[in-house]
Amino acid sequence: MASSLRSWSLCFLMASILAISSKSTIANFQPSPWQLAHATFYGDETASETMGGACGYGNLFANGYGTDTAALSSTLFNNGYACGTCYQIKCFQSPWCYSGVTFTTVTATNLCPPNWSQDSNAGGWCNPPRVHFDMSKPAFMKIAQWQAGIVPVMYRRVPCGRTDGLRFSFQGNGYWLLVYVMNVGGGGDIANMWVKGSQTGWISMTHNWGASYQAFATLGGQPLSFRITSYTTQETIIAWNVAPANWQVGLTYGTSLNFH
Ligand SMILES: *[C@@H]1O[C@H](CO)[C@@H](O)[C@H](O)[C@H]1NC(C)=O
Repeated sequence: MASSLRSWSLCFLMASILAISSKSTIANFQPSPWQLAHATFYGDETASETMGGACGYGNLFANGYGTDTAALSSTLFNNGYACGTCYQIKCFQSPWCYSGVTFTTVTATNLCPPNWSQDSNAGGWCNPPRVHFDMSKPAFMKIAQWQAGIVPVMYRRVPCGRTDGLRFSFQGNGYWLLVYVMNVGGGGDIANMWVKGSQTGWISMTHNWGASYQAFATLGGQPLSFRITSYTTQETIIAWNVAPANWQVGLTYGTSLNFH
């Protein structure tokens, strides 16, 4: 009896240690190594053309991303799973680089699509397998003179330092809930997401496009909770009762919770 109790406690202790150690690897999402790529810019200094990109974040000023944003070539974009990921970018070995600027940090908010009528080394900068950042003009102008057009850069994935919580922007109708997830901290990306009404169990949501996830379910009139797993760190957050029973499409609901 005592020995089985002891072995159970040992199991429990080991399980706790495993849980703690896996938690600590999760908590330390380290920047990736620096790698070579190129960067161009799009739009003008107002960055108005960067609004409403392929991630579906809509107005980037209203939603907290501002002008520190970039469109990713499809090699990096990963069918939208890279929406919300963050990168440090530094201009590399070009006479157009601003000296003394170490790097600038951008969030992926858009896709830079391939253009196969242009050669990959002469204008078709976003054609696979090229790794390319088409930055907002204000972001580009932090690291290089815009007259350069294109510069070599070094980049690395970094944790997205968000100080406030996840935001859920609702679209759809009474039978179809489409949620854009914004302001994601930590890895910045999402692997899986579930929604739960007060009268339902957890319903798995499917990836729609960009940073949006959908559930075909009747959820009207119920407070909604979300369970969300980070793609990069596999960490899970459960945000209870994010939206009240009288939630509406067209509104954005927030929680104080976020990945780190
Ligand atoms: C693709 O490149 C061609 C040739 O430069 C250009 O005329 C066309 O507008 C480009 N397409 C897009 C969608 O940018």
